Amino acid sequence: MDKLEVYGARKLKGKVLISGSKNASLPILAASILSNKKIILKNLPNVKDIKTMIKLLGSIGSSVRYLKNKNSIEIKNKSKIKTFASYNLVKTMRAGILVLGPMLAKYGNAKVSTPGGCTIGVRPIDIHLKALGKLGVNYKIIDGYVYANSKKKLKGAKIKFPKISVGATENLIIAASMAEGSTILSNCAIEPEVKDLVNFINCMGGKIKWIGKRTIKIEGVKNFKEVKYTIMPDRIEAGTYLIAAAVTEGNLKILGINPNIIRTEIEILKKLGLKIKIEKNQINVVGVKDIKSINLKTSPYPGFPTDLQAQLMVLLCMSKKISTISEEIFENRFMHVAELNRMGAKIKTKGNKAFIEGNTKFKSAELMATDLRASVSLILAALIAKGKTTINRIYHLDRGYEEIEKKLRKLGAKIKRVS
Ligand code: UD1
Repeated sequence: MDKLEVYGARKLKGKVLISGSKNASLPILAASILSNKKIILKNLPNVKDIKTMIKLLGSIGSSVRYLKNKNSIEIKNKSKIKTFASYNLVKTMRAGILVLGPMLAKYGNAKVSTPGGCTIGVRPIDIHLKALGKLGVNYKIIDGYVYANSKKKLKGAKIKFPKISVGATENLIIAASMAEGSTILSNCAIEPEVKDLVNFINCMGGKIKWIGKRTIKIEGVKNFKEVKYTIMPDRIEAGTYLIAAAVTEGNLKILGINPNIIRTEIEILKKLGLKIKIEKNQINVVGVKDIKSINLKTSPYPGFPTDLQAQLMVLLCMSKKISTISEEIFENRFMHVAELNRMGAKIKTKGNKAFIEGNTKFKSAELMATDLRASVSLILAALIAKGKTTINRIYHLDRGYEEIEKKLRKLGAKIKRVS
């Protein structure tokens, strides 16, 4: 199994180009099931989750081929596909559940594996299923599979989500795009990735409009047209590099990112003392010695993202005073704490709250990565620590960060993969 060896205590300097967004690509790939016309997607990140989703599309009969490089693909669907997503493909990538909506909207039936639990929590799909039920879907869960069908075409409805869910909002947007009549979804997630999905569907002929801050109106359509679409940049990757500059007291130019989609993160990092300058599609960041402390909660967009919580925690370890982070989205997302403490951090947790003491001098260690964002937080800590840190079980990292070692090496990090 691959592991990473990092020799830390080096300042990162230079330019880094942000890849396409994993979390925008996944629902857009799922939405491709709706159409029988040619779809060209550009700026997909070349990461494991995207390969798994492409494999899933292949397994149901879509023809997907790479164009020029692994960042652009062409998708073409036959008039009939298999409406089945197996456990093997959904187990590593929860977003597999996003194929449920389009399969039901187009073919009226689907058998899709439930995603099951993962290290960061139970991750239920009740909100997806109940909302699909309102469009006319009947469903049962038997032996870990959702069996769903609708006798007639899905029918538009008014649906208010009981809780903000990115995945449920996306599944319903996709399903309602091909339902009969109009659907109004309220209390929607408004993450930029949800907006990218809406733009994509509209570009291929969908009729979706934001009619309120968290409310969307969708007029179902029968057919879609050919489309060429460029996926938005990955705001979590951009945030990770901003923090990498901060923890190494480096100086980075982060390219290819629209700063508007990470305003909250930038404001918080500025409050912590970082020097950040914004240009059109570029953020310049300079790390400083004195990091201030903060009390912070993760929350749905436009709040501070749970997907950057682990990375920010590493930076807060370097502050002079105590900081706290409340994790409000997932119930078990402090898996990185034990590993960071093994490197010398002083973090205690109580329920969903972490107390970060600060003044940490990170020491190198042998570590185990637990989930995608936790893995990258260990790399950040390793970039600070003197000596060699080994991070085991890095397959989580490959799910979501394109060429991370190559990008970090270009910035001056000493990092290598050992197979
Ligand atoms: C997406 C992102 C993930 C991010 C998360 C929150 C993708 C592929 N993944 O995950 O990186 O961390 O948003 O920003 O885009 N919930 C229920 N029932 C449901 C669905 C969700 O109770 O049916 C709960 C979840 O357990 C969680 C909360 O709602 O506590 C938010 O989850 P959700 O927004 O759905 O996250 P994902 O779409 O899975």
